[in-house]
Amino acid sequence: MLDEHHAQGREELAAYRALDGYQPLSGADELLTEVDASGLVGRGGAAFPLAVKLRAVRENGRIAGGTTVIANGEEGEPASIKDRWLLRNRPHLILDGLRLAAAVVEAKHVYVYVSDADAARSIEAALSELDALPLGGVTVEVRMVEPGYVAGEETAAVRALNGGPAKPTDKPPRPFEEGVGGLPTLVSNVETLANLPYLQRHGAAAFRSQGTSLSPGTFLATITGAGRPPVLYELPHGLPFTELLALHGVSSGEVRGALMGGYFAGLLNERVLRTTLDHETFRGLGSGLGCGAISVLTDDCPVAVAASVLAYFDRENAGQCGSCFNGTAAMAAVAGALRDNVATTEDLDRLRRWSVVLRGRGACATLDAATNVAATLLDQFPDEVRRHLGGSCRSCATGAFRADRPYQAEPLRSA
Ligand SMILES: Cc1cc2nc3c(=O)[nH]c(=O)nc-3n(C[C@H](O)[C@H](O)[C@H](O)COP(=O)(O)O)c2cc1C
Ligand code: SF4
Repeated sequence: MLDEHHAQGREELAAYRALDGYQPLSGADELLTEVDASGLVGRGGAAFPLAVKLRAVRENGRIAGGTTVIANGEEGEPASIKDRWLLRNRPHLILDGLRLAAAVVEAKHVYVYVSDADAARSIEAALSELDALPLGGVTVEVRMVEPGYVAGEETAAVRALNGGPAKPTDKPPRPFEEGVGGLPTLVSNVETLANLPYLQRHGAAAFRSQGTSLSPGTFLATITGAGRPPVLYELPHGLPFTELLALHGVSSGEVRGALMGGYFAGLLNERVLRTTLDHETFRGLGSGLGCGAISVLTDDCPVAVAASVLAYFDRENAGQCGSCFNGTAAMAAVAGALRDNVATTEDLDRLRRWSVVLRGRGACATLDAATNVAATLLDQFPDEVRRHLGGSCRSCATGAFRADRPYQAEPLRSA
């Protein structure tokens, strides 16, 4: 995806065609079989198998009398840039994947859902280079939304495209059952879709030649933190974390942990050094690779990082569910007090209790993200937490880490 041929700047149609893009599709069933065999899982965060969703949307659509597809490029995670990079630089790769997904689920009208103006312009420019032929007669609509952490959640995307606010709704129904215009809707991350043209051309075996059996293929990793500018890498799943550090020019000895999955999966201590970059390894540690955004912690104090992330969730939650609105505010307040060395052990007891009892509440998983941050701080960094109770954290002595959007990924270079 970060193709060797490719420098920065929008790839035009001729260049994409020169890479064998927009190959005619011989059979949607054959492609679905390849997607299934490839084991491709979604790149939006949840790592859900694409083939399962494609099949469910197609089957539901045959009963409902139609389907649609949302290419989800909203990218609400501040520490991630991969989707915007793809949209701005490789719009035809995304459109090619989108028309293949549309063919499989038999959709006639599909959406590219973004909040970045450059991304929208890039897709519009790519569409203006195409006639209906390469898209198989499918029409594509670009829809802009105000950016926000929850705006890319799948029911928020559906609600926005149905004319409402970009805020999550209760489930069921899930979009694959009933989505835009009431039709079964495939919501797929743009990076996920961008894998389909490769699968069409090279098949599942080639796709599986990289990665692990449960996390096949490569993925885009936004690496931030460690006092370095953000870099976007395309990495094979299963790469040892220490090899990523070497690529990024960070010595293992400097690393005290990482903020994982964007902000979603919370903190992981120095055990991160013994991981390989795949979903199963991080899940096994109670963490997550999520959308592939990793912030490496070196000098920054995990207590102060957690306080900033929880404050961000306090501002960014959709304010629709009492448990999320109040619970996130309460957790953010304790984490902030801890950073400022004024929290008590009773405060910490409450934080621990909330990090357990609030899990799974709320219409979307934003509250889970906040509980992940709180629980992992307490579990993985007990020494740092203790130092903050005693006011003796050396990392924070000269001014604690504070950021509205910790490790925000722009500007970046790709590698
Ligand atoms: C709070 C929240 C925010 C999300 N934001 C995004 C996002 O910005 N982009 C995205 O692709 N998926 C996002 N997701 C995941 C989507 O709900 C959905 O699972 C995803 O778009 C499906 O695509 P995939 O199967 O290709 O990963 C978010 C989920 C949650 C709970
Ligand atoms: S859980 Fe939080 S972010 Fe999600 S819909 Fe409810 S209030 Fe909004």
